[in-house]
Amino acid sequence: MIEGHFIVIEGIDGSGTTTQCSILASRLTGKGLPVHVTREPSDGPVGVLIRQILIGRVVVPGSHGARPPSWATMAALFAADRLDHLEAEILPNLHDGVSVISDRYDHSSVAYQTVSSGGGSDVSSWVLDLNRRARRPDLTLVLDVDADVAATRRGLRSSNPELYEVGEMQAELAKFYENIDAMFPADRIRHIDAGRGVDEVADAIWDEVMKLRGESE
Ligand code: TYD
Repeated sequence: MIEGHFIVIEGIDGSGTTTQCSILASRLTGKGLPVHVTREPSDGPVGVLIRQILIGRVVVPGSHGARPPSWATMAALFAADRLDHLEAEILPNLHDGVSVISDRYDHSSVAYQTVSSGGGSDVSSWVLDLNRRARRPDLTLVLDVDADVAATRRGLRSSNPELYEVGEMQAELAKFYENIDAMFPADRIRHIDAGRGVDEVADAIWDEVMKLRGESE
């Protein structure tokens, strides 16, 4: 059995990762290829806990009031979720010949937990170590978009802002993502200008996926 491809789509909140994951999946399905779309935080037990933290339903109590868990606790939770996600969902699909498209992966951990810690390369290398056992994607597509454009897109959604959806942090994250390749020198990472319309972005992603499959003209 030939393994499926493991493709990751990354970017700041509002960059369009969820939309592009589903367009890519339908294009691949349209070619008759088996595809599984998934996301991180995953729908597994640790991922569900993380989503409760992101919306403020789970907090750390304290004499100065409740607060979200520290960046280090979050990094450990995201890494645990990732390993469980791999074991329960990603690897079984790949082994069955199904390609997996994940909305976020460990690039999000390095970017978000480094930026939210206020720290630098020492934090990034610890987060990278925590994720050392996570299988590498065959292709990672980073959707680069201006933080203001992404904020406007997020504003169009009805829900309350989540833990990391703060303007300043998103601007720092956008910069971090521009240089994310340096953190993963062995990975196949391609940057996509995601400030354009949905279809143009989808076409640029499709080109990269066809190159990966050796099907580009
Ligand atoms: P997101 O992917 O935006 O999902 P939704 O659209 O359902 O809100 O939310 C996940 C948030 O978690 C996002 O702000 C990025 C953050 N995150 C991390 O901080 N570290 C990680 O490792 C991952 C996977 C996500």
